[in-house]
Amino acid sequence: MCGIVGCIGKKDVVCNVLSGLETIEYRGYDSAGIVCRDENTQALVWVKACGDLVALKEALVEKPLHAPIALGHTRWATHGGVTVENTHPHFDCHHTIALVHNGIIENYRALRADLESRGHVFRSQTDTEAVAHVLEEKLKTTASPKEALLATVKELEGSFALAILLRDLDDTLLFVRNRSPLCVGLGEDSASVVSDMLSLDQSIQQYAILPDQTIGIVRANFCEVYNFDGSPCELVYQPFTWLGQLKNKKNYEHYMLKEIHEQKQVIIDVVKYVRTLGNNWYSAIGLQKEEIQKLESIFGVACGTSYHAACMAHQYMRSIAHIHSYAERASEFLYQPEMPLKNCLYYVLSQSGETADTLETLRMLKKSGQKVLGIINVPTSSMARESTGILHMNAGLEVAVASTKSFTVQVVLLYWLAYKIAQEKGLVDSFAVEQAENDLLVCAQLLDGMIDKYQATIDERATYYASFSKYIFLGRQESFPFAQEAALKLKEIAYIFVEAYQAGELKHGPLALVDKNMPVVVFSSLDPIIYRKLLSNVQEVKARGGIVIAFAFEGQNELIAVASESFVFPVVAVHLGPLVMVSLMQYWVYRIALSLGRSIDKPRNLAKSVTVE
Ligand code: M6R
Repeated sequence: MCGIVGCIGKKDVVCNVLSGLETIEYRGYDSAGIVCRDENTQALVWVKACGDLVALKEALVEKPLHAPIALGHTRWATHGGVTVENTHPHFDCHHTIALVHNGIIENYRALRADLESRGHVFRSQTDTEAVAHVLEEKLKTTASPKEALLATVKELEGSFALAILLRDLDDTLLFVRNRSPLCVGLGEDSASVVSDMLSLDQSIQQYAILPDQTIGIVRANFCEVYNFDGSPCELVYQPFTWLGQLKNKKNYEHYMLKEIHEQKQVIIDVVKYVRTLGNNWYSAIGLQKEEIQKLESIFGVACGTSYHAACMAHQYMRSIAHIHSYAERASEFLYQPEMPLKNCLYYVLSQSGETADTLETLRMLKKSGQKVLGIINVPTSSMARESTGILHMNAGLEVAVASTKSFTVQVVLLYWLAYKIAQEKGLVDSFAVEQAENDLLVCAQLLDGMIDKYQATIDERATYYASFSKYIFLGRQESFPFAQEAALKLKEIAYIFVEAYQAGELKHGPLALVDKNMPVVVFSSLDPIIYRKLLSNVQEVKARGGIVIAFAFEGQNELIAVASESFVFPVVAVHLGPLVMVSLMQYWVYRIALSLGRSIDKPRNLAKSVTVE
């Protein structure tokens, strides 16, 4: 959430900062700003603009900036509205310090009151600005920038990744890292401080993820790091190869559409990956064979879409591996009383690997002595580094804020994991595991065909679907979390209100809502018993004059007959129904949002990576 890019070079680096920000803009796009030092006057000069980076670029045409050292930020507003004043960088009283910040300063109110009482003048409503004023005081009362930073962090509570440019310190950027990620890159004549290594530029030859609770000083090809207690901290550098512009929409109109179409390949890739793990899968997930055999339960913690994948796993674990399964939203789990389960595998799921609530959960579980498996897409992320075991999602860069392919890969990995646990427990043999992997590949092959089959219909009817202001989505067993995921997608990118319900619950209240103004979308099941139950629920809707749109399977003729319209899918393995529906469901939502003229890849008020609790 929010992005930081600071660059040092021989020539002008403002363009590097700008292209770095472009790479991570999906992390926050409420407003953006860049600051550097004017080479003639030595004063700090900056440009800020509300809106996405297009607005900042336009502002830079009006007021061009050029300098060999510059700092930029793209903001997702937390404290203070979306205004130019609240846009980073923020300054001290005399514009001698410019700083950008990711995270939240939790004690900023007390700090601000105290600083204002001593005459500091604030210009924004942000939590961040307080840090600039604290540092202003510390620079006056300590012997060096290092001492000033160490004294400053003592005053701060919360999570903060900070990059700082001082008017009076040539060629140097300062940084602080506490809970929010930050990384440093070094080149022959250059250096960068960035919140995401995706935004390192071509000049960088090696990079290091900064350890938590550190401060540091960066110059071209130089970085000095200290722990919060002032002791020196050694960085572990990795070679950096710039992979070119990773963000590439190809010929698609939106990243979301491209990512929907990538799902066939990512399923193939992830099945290949689990197959290559062979017997190493125990160490991959961080457990001994005996520990897996003794497993009594599995507990997944995640947020948003990843949480829905954990809910689907809940069904898989119970029906395939015959173990108790729990799925919790990280933001809730974190504040419940600790009740550690014996013989339980805890796992966290995250595309970004940086979601604050999930990351805190991982840390809390580890602190209480649990091993924690991470199912993570970004291999360099905090969660990937801190988990005791890891299954890599291998989904590649997901740019659209709405998760698509990462959900699919999480479901695939958890389905496979259920089979592997079942195998260790003697419930299935290796042939069944291989069959399960093949079943996943069958789904992959069917995905694009489903879009081809219904694209014309959906495109034509998109405005009709978009004419409703509310929907109910129904599912049962694994098709219920899938209905929840579909609902999240429609809310997130079309801004249409949807309630997802377990179909059997409808008659306990929500049935009262059903009328001709609120379509009911039903996601069917391949389990014959569940299907019959679902059918009765749909009949109840129909009997009350409801409009039913069915995602059904071939042969489910009664459902197809009762529905006003249906999308019909081939029969696959019994629990994999959602996996064959996933691309079309996402495409359907995409087209609705498109017909409403929504900002598909960057929906309002959101950001891709939610690094604040
Ligand atoms: O990176 P994560 O998987 O941890 O992200 C969790 C949620 O923020 C994320 O899935 C969010 O709900 C998506 N934007 C939904 O499409």
